[in-house]
Amino acid sequence: MEFSNRISSLKPSAIREILKMPNDPDLISFAAGNPAPDSFPVDAMKKIAANIFETKAASALQYGVSEGYTPLRDITKERMGKKHNVFKEETDDLIITSGGQQAIEMTAKILLNEGDSVICEDPAFVGALNALRSYGVNLVGVPVDNDGMLMDVLEEKLKTEKNIKLIYTIPTFQNPTGTTMSLSRRKKLLELAEKYDVMVLEDSPYFELRFRGEPVPTIKSLDEKGRVIFCGSYSKILSPGIRIGFACASKEIISKLTVAKQVSDVHTNLFFQMLAAEYLKENDIDEHIAKICDIYRVKLDKMLECIEKAFTKKVSFTRPEGGLFVSCTMPDGFDGAELTNRAKAAKVAIVPGCTFAADDTKIYPTFRLNFSLPSLDEIERGIDRLAKVLNEYVG
Ligand SMILES: Cc1ncc(COP(=O)(O)O)c(C=O)c1O
Repeated sequence: MEFSNRISSLKPSAIREILKMPNDPDLISFAAGNPAPDSFPVDAMKKIAANIFETKAASALQYGVSEGYTPLRDITKERMGKKHNVFKEETDDLIITSGGQQAIEMTAKILLNEGDSVICEDPAFVGALNALRSYGVNLVGVPVDNDGMLMDVLEEKLKTEKNIKLIYTIPTFQNPTGTTMSLSRRKKLLELAEKYDVMVLEDSPYFELRFRGEPVPTIKSLDEKGRVIFCGSYSKILSPGIRIGFACASKEIISKLTVAKQVSDVHTNLFFQMLAAEYLKENDIDEHIAKICDIYRVKLDKMLECIEKAFTKKVSFTRPEGGLFVSCTMPDGFDGAELTNRAKAAKVAIVPGCTFAADDTKIYPTFRLNFSLPSLDEIERGIDRLAKVLNEYVG
C-alpha cells in the first residue's frame, strides 16, 4: 500500500504506543501525560450530563456551529480576557477545538506551505511536532535552558534559515522539560517575531497548573500586533477525554481557523461542549484548579525528593513550578532510548528525549518523567526501580 508523503514520514507517537502497553499491574508508568483520575469532577459532571439529556437533548444531539457552542465560547473568552488578558475584545476572536492538538494542527494548516520552516523549542511536544511535520515543513530546533528558548540562537536561526513562517513555543511548564520562559525572553521573542515578520504559536495547556512561584504573563497578553495565536485546553484542568481546547487570536486568523475546522470535523462534540459550559457556569473552576495543584504539588515534591535521594549525581533534572513533567539529563554519550528499554524490562515506563527532538534521528541523553498520574507510593517505588537501572547504566 502506498501512503502519502505526509503520513509516511511520521512515526507513531511513542507516548500513545506506551498507553497501549499491556495492562501489567506491576508496571509503573511515568510515561503518559495523563491527569490524575481523582482530578476529574465526576459527580458534578454526572448531574450535568443527566440534566442535559433531560432538558436539552434535542440540541445536544444536533449539529452545532463550527466556532463552538456559544455559552462555552463566551465563558472561555471571559476567563481568558479578564483573568489572563489573552482574549482582547476589540481585536480577537476565539474558536473551540477538539483539544489543543486540533488548534495546533489547524494553525499549521492555515499558515504553512510545504517547504516552509517553523522554529520550535528543541525538545518540544511531539504531538505538535508531528502536526507540523505532516504539512511538509522543515523544523528548526532552538535549545532551551531553565528560562526557556535561547534568544541568541533564535535570532541566529531567524537570520540564517530560509522561509521561516512561525515560531512554535510552549512557554509555560514546557513539555517535556517543565521549564518556564522568563518575561524578558517572552518580550524578546515578540520583538524578534516582529523584526523578522513571523507569526507565533503559543501553546499553553499547562499555564494554569502553577504550584508555586509567580505567574508570568502569556506572550499573547504582551502582543499588540496580532502576531500570536494562543492555544489553550480544558484537558489538564477538567478532563482530556472530553477533547475540548481552543484557539484565541485576531479575528482574521480565527475566521480562517473556522474554515479549517469545517473541513476537519465540522464542530467539536456538542454534548461535551455543553457539559463543559454548564460545569463552568455552576462551579468555581479556579477553586477546582487550586485543588488539582494541591494534588500535583505533593506528587512533584515526592518525585523530586526521591530523584534527589536515589539518582546518581551525574544525572541532572529540572525543578518545575507547575505542569506535569520533570526532565532528566544523563551525561553526553548516554542514550535515553537505551535507558527506556532497560527501564521497561524493570517495569518502569519513561519517555526517551529523542521523542521530543526536532531531529528525531539523533541520540539524546534525556528522558521525561510524568508525576501527575502515578500515586505517591508508585512514585516512590518507580523512582527506586528506575534509579537502579539508571545508576547501573550511567555508572
Ligand atoms: C504542550 C502540549 N500542547 C498541546 C497538547 C494537546 O492537548 P489536548 O489536545 O488534550 O488539549 C498537549 C498534550 O499533552 C501538550 O503537552
